[in-house]
Amino acid sequence: MDNIVALAKRRGFIFQSSEIYGGFNGFFDYGPLGSELKKNIRDCWWNDMVRRRDDIVGIETSIIMHPKVWEASGHVAGFSDPLVDCKVSKQRFRADQLFFSPVTVTGADGVAKIVGYVSALESEKTTADLQAAAETFKRKKAIVGTLAAVTPKDLTEATPEEIPLIPSPATGEPGSLTEARSFNMMFQTNVGAMTDGSSVAYLRPETAQGMFVDFKNVWDTGRVKLPFGIAQIGKSFRNEITPRNFIFRSREFEQMEMEYFIHEDADWSKCHQEWIEWCRQWLISVGLPESKLTLYAHKKEKLAFYSKGTTDIMFEYPFGVQELWGIAARGSYDLTQHANASGKPQEVFDEGTKKKFVPHVIEPAVGVDRILLAVLCAGYAEEDVKDDKGNVEKRTVLRLSPRIAPVKVAVLPLLKNKEALVGRAQALYKKLQRRYAVFFDDGGNIGKRYRRQDEIGTPWCVTIDFDTIEKPGDTFTLRERDSMAQRRITEVELFALLEEHVY
Ligand code: GAP
Repeated sequence: MDNIVALAKRRGFIFQSSEIYGGFNGFFDYGPLGSELKKNIRDCWWNDMVRRRDDIVGIETSIIMHPKVWEASGHVAGFSDPLVDCKVSKQRFRADQLFFSPVTVTGADGVAKIVGYVSALESEKTTADLQAAAETFKRKKAIVGTLAAVTPKDLTEATPEEIPLIPSPATGEPGSLTEARSFNMMFQTNVGAMTDGSSVAYLRPETAQGMFVDFKNVWDTGRVKLPFGIAQIGKSFRNEITPRNFIFRSREFEQMEMEYFIHEDADWSKCHQEWIEWCRQWLISVGLPESKLTLYAHKKEKLAFYSKGTTDIMFEYPFGVQELWGIAARGSYDLTQHANASGKPQEVFDEGTKKKFVPHVIEPAVGVDRILLAVLCAGYAEEDVKDDKGNVEKRTVLRLSPRIAPVKVAVLPLLKNKEALVGRAQALYKKLQRRYAVFFDDGGNIGKRYRRQDEIGTPWCVTIDFDTIEKPGDTFTLRERDSMAQRRITEVELFALLEEHVY
């Protein structure tokens, strides 16, 4: 992960926000290559989800909506995480990510006693960390006896008597943790000149509500009929207690969400399964390996009360298997809530049964930043390769799908000071540039130029060499990033290759 973060900074994919002021936790900037990559992910999704389908339309709604939207949706009352404070260090933790265990030792009398508590923040090896902490605790306190295996629980499960005994992960000492309390993750702002309670509004924590609130507008104007979907891409904001893992969980991020409205009597489960598979295939189409994708169906008893079923597509990040894309069957909850709160019915008329009903919805919701991180992680590799003289050297390569790679082709004249080579290269570059993101590089030896492109994920380099200008056929050397194989190609063939792979 450290190598990926370093590459992202070094090659201008991702920077810390406000870096010259020391950064701002949970906020990131996308540099020249990062913003291209992000745009390509967005465009692929929009093209596949909206433009290439007859049953889905796109919209773009405002980030700040009427505050009543968030009351009706349940976010004002319930969009919260359990928070715990450390009174000494002033650090805050998510209580469901702070684990603890009693340290239990059986003495010579055969009686098992709790001699203290240990804590650890959630990670891939929480239990091992707690066990190691328990062993250290026993050794430091010179306690004699047999140490029992730890029994991890998170802080929301701690009794009021246990809280003062659990060490803070910040200080290592007990006595400073507060009991868990609810922390609403919506960012508040004030709209208009007043700053009292009457002007409070929120930055949206999800794009989804825009689709529900505009459902009737689209229904009345969009020439749509069930089943159909409304999609949008946009920024969302959550005051995450513990933003972490680079851009995986941040406070400002971008979502791509689609609400697929179906008849109240439709087979929602079948539709849900179809969307799960569509999303999985889409992720594969932008280059994620199938072997790193798994499905996690939320347990029935843990579902939100309105949800009939939620399945997450999980991705194997270097820091663990984590949620990438959530696909939820939300019933008619949202439209019904907005109908009740606004007094505006959200029903449609069924010509067959001559009945009005509120449509149900299947919602695939994904974060652009999480996809971007996944493609960087899946694509990053360090390899030993041989140079022209047979010496082994390291190459860093980013195996990005041509669909999303920030640069599709690099155009390289073999020599900088040969006008005929540079002129032909410039002509090709200008022609490619009309349709694709391309890069012109005439600096340094050709091997180094290939390596620079490998590192930013450019699928192809074309070199304009002496054969191009001296031999018939006007061919270039095409060099492929992954295999490093080279072959000759004409301009027409190059455009055909791009047409096939960049869509
Ligand atoms: N409308 C439903 C909804 O927003 P969610 O599971 O809270 O559901 C959907 O979010 C997706 O948005 C997640 O699967 C993830 O890809 C992305 N996401 C959520 N919180 C995020 C955060 N703090 N940082 C980056 N991406 C996030």
